[in-house]
Amino acid sequence: MSRSAHPAGPRHADVLPEGHYSAPPADLNTLDPKVWAQTVDRGDDGVVRVGGVDVKALAEEFGTPAYFLDETDFRARARAWRTAFGQDADVFYAGKAFLSRAVVRWLHEEGLNLDVCSGGELATALSAGMPADRIAFHGNNKSTEEIHRAVEAGVGRIVLDSFQEIVRVAHVAQELGKRQRVQIRVTVGVEAHTHEFIATAHEDQKFGIPLAGGQAAEAVRRALKLDGLELIGIHSHIGSQIFDTSGFEVAAHRVVGLLKDIRDEHGVELPEIDLGGGLGIAYTSADDPREPHEIAKALTEIVTRECEGARLRTPRISVEPGRAIVGPTAFTLYEVGTIKPLDGLRTYVSVDGGMSDNIRTALYDAEYSVALVSRTSDAEPMLARVVGKHCESGDIVVKDAFLPADLAPGDLIAVPATGAYCRSMASNYNHVLRPPVVAVKDGEARVIVRRETEEDLLRLDVG
Ligand code: LLP
Repeated sequence: MSRSAHPAGPRHADVLPEGHYSAPPADLNTLDPKVWAQTVDRGDDGVVRVGGVDVKALAEEFGTPAYFLDETDFRARARAWRTAFGQDADVFYAGKAFLSRAVVRWLHEEGLNLDVCSGGELATALSAGMPADRIAFHGNNKSTEEIHRAVEAGVGRIVLDSFQEIVRVAHVAQELGKRQRVQIRVTVGVEAHTHEFIATAHEDQKFGIPLAGGQAAEAVRRALKLDGLELIGIHSHIGSQIFDTSGFEVAAHRVVGLLKDIRDEHGVELPEIDLGGGLGIAYTSADDPREPHEIAKALTEIVTRECEGARLRTPRISVEPGRAIVGPTAFTLYEVGTIKPLDGLRTYVSVDGGMSDNIRTALYDAEYSVALVSRTSDAEPMLARVVGKHCESGDIVVKDAFLPADLAPGDLIAVPATGAYCRSMASNYNHVLRPPVVAVKDGEARVIVRRETEEDLLRLDVG
């Protein structure tokens, strides 16, 4: 079908649902730097580039769908967090957001530590040369085998998440003749303003030990008694995609309250406090994340003030940003397939991926942006819904966004800010193959996680 012959979908706000997209942007060809990786721009020929390489060339070489990760941007963000917190604090990148060996090497080079939460993440970190003492091991249900591997490898800290785990880790450490550095993860009873499934500090949930009812204080009592453990601090993670520091303020206040109680009861001042991750990024132009240096300043001030009030030495602070480092650095490139304009509703634009490469829209009602990247267009904006190729009507990648009405099969569109929790939460639903991650830097593109093949799928199927 020729471009001009393609029936345009609804154009304007008459059918717009509530949400970020209250009106079409003035110019669909402009890329908002807030949501795109640092080196992304549109060349004179209208084709979008990353790291100096254009997306048509990338699609040709690596296929679609694929995640393209701007290495320059990743390193810059990692460095910005490291610099913002300075030498008196530690930045642990949360590997769950996206982990690969190349990423581990970049983090190592940029002076960051790493937070892992499974045997698989630990194996990836160690195999890429992250020194074990710069790794923190998390999780609400670590297996004895995982604990054994972590203690044996000499991880810098294990974050204890339950009473049973306190005993389990102490036991393993003793068996191995070691004293394991640990933190205790507490739930401080904060309602983070984010989606229910990614809020983690209210009490009715699976993570951590509640401060309420003296449970965390009891956990500290037990941990301090066990020879296999060296209790170095308290950990709190209040949730994800958070934009203001007020939740952290309450969390810091309550954690410092516990540190004070520990000092009063045991005469011990724990040297560390970890405030977790969760800092938000811009998925659409409506989001306004804060800069790492602002966050570092705010968090340091909060902890310092609270400790002064409690007459405690200020502990060493650590944070665990995942999304805020990797999220904005990648986009997913798709080829447009079927286009279905539904009269008076919207136009469904199908792409060659979907909920298998980005489950966040289906799972959290997440908002994303999208742009036509293989060319520019002066056509009218049409209200589009970008959907995948899976057998589910909830298989939505971008719920509501404007694309040019002359969009046609074969065009390339890209969804920015897919660096975090997209490849790491990807699935093989419908036996769709997981896309590769391609790092782009200074005119060069290289695969860091290769595309899955049908052979990979069949190798696991041994029936
Ligand atoms: N530290 C701990 C203990 C965590 O549980 C998490 C995230 C982080 C740090 C990193 O959070 P970040 O800075 O990346 O927000 N799949 C969800 C997010 C789940 C996050 C789980 N824990 C999503 O796609 O939004």
